[in-house]
Amino acid sequence: MTGGIDPIRRVSILGAGRVGTALARTLVDAGYQVTLAGSGDPEAVEMIAAFTAPGARARWARDATSDADLVVLALPLHRLPSLDPTILADRVVVDAMNYWPPVDGIIARFEGARHGTSIEVRDVLGLDRLVKTFNHTGYHDLEPDRRERGHPDRLGMAVAGDDADDVAAVVEVVERIGYDAVALQRLEFGRLIQPGGAIFGARPTADDIRRTLRPLIQRAA
Ligand SMILES: NC(=O)c1ccc[n+]([C@@H]2O[C@H](COP(=O)([O-])OP(=O)(O)OC[C@H]3O[C@@H](n4cnc5c(N)ncnc54)[C@H](OP(=O)(O)O)[C@@H]3O)[C@@H](O)[C@H]2O)c1
Repeated sequence: MTGGIDPIRRVSILGAGRVGTALARTLVDAGYQVTLAGSGDPEAVEMIAAFTAPGARARWARDATSDADLVVLALPLHRLPSLDPTILADRVVVDAMNYWPPVDGIIARFEGARHGTSIEVRDVLGLDRLVKTFNHTGYHDLEPDRRERGHPDRLGMAVAGDDADDVAAVVEVVERIGYDAVALQRLEFGRLIQPGGAIFGARPTADDIRRTLRPLIQRAA
């Protein structure tokens, strides 16, 4: 790694559901130290981790984030108010979440999120910065779609964020787990990769992402 960006080693995932456990398995396999936390006692997550993400450690969310280089938010958006934002201070934080009304119900703030739901998540949590990624792929595709660097079938993963160092750190993680990362240098471009956005659920290559998003980003500039 160059440019003074510390490499990510320890990843804490908040949310031990479908996305959280798929990410945990993937990250453990790629050599990261992974902790998983639910909304409460880690006892509730220990069994889940043991069966669905061996190698990942269950901890209280506060402990899991205290020494993490990267925190991934993988909880339903309607549960966001249950998250203590102080545990995210000074961390690189990834938003892997989507606003999904059948699950989340109608939430006015996210319904009206002109600049994408991650801008709202950032503001609700009072974070200085946030990175959006992992959200445009289905949890069931995340692992089987991984390919080594240079593989002709390697897919792409968009990474949107305002802070260039955070984006670069997350890009490295995305590349290492098995995707060609495409950096989008504004968090508000996260709206292009959320549900209803151009590449959501499309299993695109990196070239597909660039080709599809470039005109939309140029129009927004
Ligand atoms: N399903 C997909 O394919 C997919 C793909 C991309 C993105 N997403 C998005 O990813 C997010 C998670 O989806 P999912 O399908 O994985 O949900 P899920 O299976 O319902 O799991 C949600 C998890 O979040 C935990 N949680 C709730 N509040 C929490 C808190 N304050 N701190 C830590 N953990 C908390 C729950 O734990 P408790 O039991 O302790 O409440 C549960 O383990 C959603 O925003 C979804 O839209 C989903």
